Amino acid sequence: MSGIVYLNGAFVDRADAKVSVDDRGFVFGDGVYEVTRSFDGVLLEVDRHLRRLERSLAGLDLAYASAELTSISLRLLRDNGLARGEATVYWQITRGAASPRTHWFPPVGTPVTVYAAASPFTALHDKRATGVGTILLPDQRWARCDLKTVNLLPNVIAKQKAVAAGVHEALLMRDGVIMEGAATNFFGVIDGVIRTHPKSNYILPGITREVVLECADELGMAVREEPMFVDDLPKLSESFLTGTTNDVMPVVAIDGRAVGDGKPGPVAGRLYSALIARWRMGD
Ligand code: PDD
Repeated sequence: MSGIVYLNGAFVDRADAKVSVDDRGFVFGDGVYEVTRSFDGVLLEVDRHLRRLERSLAGLDLAYASAELTSISLRLLRDNGLARGEATVYWQITRGAASPRTHWFPPVGTPVTVYAAASPFTALHDKRATGVGTILLPDQRWARCDLKTVNLLPNVIAKQKAVAAGVHEALLMRDGVIMEGAATNFFGVIDGVIRTHPKSNYILPGITREVVLECADELGMAVREEPMFVDDLPKLSESFLTGTTNDVMPVVAIDGRAVGDGKPGPVAGRLYSALIARWRMGD
């Protein structure tokens, strides 16, 4: 990829953007990130992404005034010719470069590393039309999944297993409960009620999850934020994933077994329509 990225106060060519080998993001995965979406130069749900970033920063005891990311992102969209149509904007803040390597934090005042980049994005409409397959895997993550850290090894390994199995997403199970996907939140519909795992330290509080729950509420749909057990899966009439790059994505198979009638369901369809109407993407 080419283009202009933002690194530590400067807008530079991607090829010239260099991070130290002593960066704690590189050495320890000691940092946080966000993936945001834009449409026609507007950052979607930017306040919610900034709030979640602040929460992740606080969770890692990282000091960074994130408000500047809005103007940085808008400039990245403009400078990369992405002010029309769809794009994603990635933000990452790490605890900065520190040598010698120590597990404990570097001295107060060590500058954090701030990186942001905009990329063209094409929504997954083909997958949405057919629905996607998923596999079930044990959740091997730590006990602060609510923080969006760059330490993503269990997610990366799970996603790779999904790709190797020829499906779109891995659903992560803890004690017989489906927590969420490797990079998405998970929803199911049982007896006409939409179910998704409640917010906890074991799931990422997805921005799309939150917005979709609000849309469901506005549409008068019944919702219960309750754990869903693997044993509940045969009762599903439909299921779907939510996420910044997935919007609302129907799940038609789990571990090779059809969900409901094996086709994208009406609840996912209505919620997706509500989402794109909210973001004015259908105009
Ligand atoms: N992933 N759960 C996990 C573990 C995630 O990594 C993500 C997002 C979500 C959905 O959250 P949101 O609706 O705020 O995107 C849920 C991003 C897109 C990623 O890592 O690329």
